Amino acid sequence: MEENKNNIYPVFDRMLTRADKEELLGQHGVMVWFTGLSGSGKSTVAIALERELQRRGVLCRVLDGDNIRSGINSNLGFSEADRVENIRRIAEVARLFVDTGVVTIAAFISPNASMRQMAARIIGPDDFLEVYVSTPLAECERRDVKGLYAKARKGEIANFTGISAPFEAPSHPALSIDTSTLSLEESVARLLGLVLPKIRKE
Ligand code: ADX
Repeated sequence: MEENKNNIYPVFDRMLTRADKEELLGQHGVMVWFTGLSGSGKSTVAIALERELQRRGVLCRVLDGDNIRSGINSNLGFSEADRVENIRRIAEVARLFVDTGVVTIAAFISPNASMRQMAARIIGPDDFLEVYVSTPLAECERRDVKGLYAKARKGEIANFTGISAPFEAPSHPALSIDTSTLSLEESVARLLGLVLPKIRKE
């Protein structure tokens, strides 16, 4: 059979690949996925990590609960189904960043192992680092930065993680950080030890 020339696409039409992007940036994309209770310190640690990486010339993107939930996921609540959809969309967005060579840092409760597995599957398990911010519930509740635990205890918020909705601790996280016993500097130092070798592989 004669070869159909119409099915041959010239190489200059090829979409640039992740490897092309990573070469441009001089870094490898990786997903740092924080999981933990509300008020455990996920966002604080995520932002501190971003700052330290930026200082080292690494391009990062933080995806964080309150920002995503006021934008792309503004139509979602906190039922189990909505949380799954929240995490699914976040993982799809995160994949675009990782595929662009960006160090992507997500800070969501992501309370179930199955949700986190879904995220790892979407993003690619080889690029996925699960970090458990393991600050105990009692400490999160004592801090109650947003006043939500008090409301949840009074029954004013349904399905509140740790109070009236479950949280499944990861069984094999790449790293655990308890912000009630570790300083922010120490937490970031441990994270850098985990993440930097993935970003700059010579
Ligand atoms: S997740 O469970 O779907 O991963 P996500 O991280 O996006 O949650 O959002 C959690 C944030 O939403 C909390 O830090 C808190 O500020 C707020 N929130 C509002 N209602 C709830 C609730 N029922 N359970 C947990 N967090 C809630």
